[in-house]
Amino acid sequence: MEDRFGHRISYLRVSITDRCNERCTYCMPQELQEWLPREGILTFEETLRLIRIAAELGVSKIRITGGEPLTRRGVVDLIRQLPKIPGLDDIGLSTNGTLLARPVEPNLTMAAALRAAGVRSVNISLDTLDPDAYSQITGRDLHGQVLDGIEAAIAAGFDQIKLNAVLMRGRNEDQLIPLIEFGARRNLILRFIEMMPVSTSEVLDERNFVPIFEAKRAIEARFGSLIPEPQFHTNGPATYYQIPGRQQRVGFIGAMTNLHFCESCNKLRLTCDGKLRPCLGSYLEFDIMKPLRAGASDDELRQFFIDVVDRKPEQHDFRNNYQPNRKMIAIGG
Ligand code: 5AD
Ligand code: SF4
Repeated sequence: MEDRFGHRISYLRVSITDRCNERCTYCMPQELQEWLPREGILTFEETLRLIRIAAELGVSKIRITGGEPLTRRGVVDLIRQLPKIPGLDDIGLSTNGTLLARPVEPNLTMAAALRAAGVRSVNISLDTLDPDAYSQITGRDLHGQVLDGIEAAIAAGFDQIKLNAVLMRGRNEDQLIPLIEFGARRNLILRFIEMMPVSTSEVLDERNFVPIFEAKRAIEARFGSLIPEPQFHTNGPATYYQIPGRQQRVGFIGAMTNLHFCESCNKLRLTCDGKLRPCLGSYLEFDIMKPLRAGASDDELRQFFIDVVDRKPEQHDFRNNYQPNRKMIAIGG
């Protein structure tokens, strides 16, 4: 599938739940959440059918997200089906890490079960090493569980583990170097992410925003000039650098300030309630659950995907008064 601007769509992010066991300020409002009713969520069977159709159209990489995807029962069973789908060669998962160390069977952590089911790469959110700051950011006291989760992920032997930190003024600016050192000791890639306006909450205002160039400058003040690695790509719009004198990579995701952010976009999103979103930073979404449940054929669903890709905007709309109509948690990071 190719859009009007020559973007090849090879990457589908699949949100399997809008629920989460945390309450990150930048992701969801603090008030009590109304979760979607169960019948409004795609079943695993429906999800797998849509993934298979996407794979027939050239999608080769899937990333399972949420909400927190590991809160959905049966997630390992779903993932086990993915490697059987022809055309898929890369399966990733984004998680807050809190449930990775949990035993799913005696002597088997969730992380190890996911690895065995076919997950190749895992992205884990870790905004800070300070447990108090962590609780303030996420609304939950689960820092220890995340650290255990990261160790469980390392023990599980994924091909790639990335740690994601969303930059927030006054909350984790002091954490850049500690997070890099934490990553260095474990051989993990650190990524710093600019906060995007995808929640209604007041945390997303400009006073809390830290641009990636500022984070980069602070890191360079400590380690010297970072060495660009334009040839290294993971799948998203991150730009990567090598830290001089080390075997360590850092990435920056600058949706707000990197004007080239959308140029290499290869993504499409499927929300847990069956909407295809051609761009995270656009209000556009298309209800594929409706035709799916009305008995559409594979051909009709294929055409639906093609039509959505055809509506993919050239760029996100974050810089122009963006109205997401949905919280991040209901889109799937
Ligand atoms: N801006 C930037 N990143 C966000 N995430 C969630 N909400 C936002 C936001 N408003 C990140 C999480 C996680 C990933 C799935 O998305 O930290 O790493
Ligand atoms: Fe949950 Fe992730 Fe959103 Fe935090 S960012 S509330 S962990 S889905």
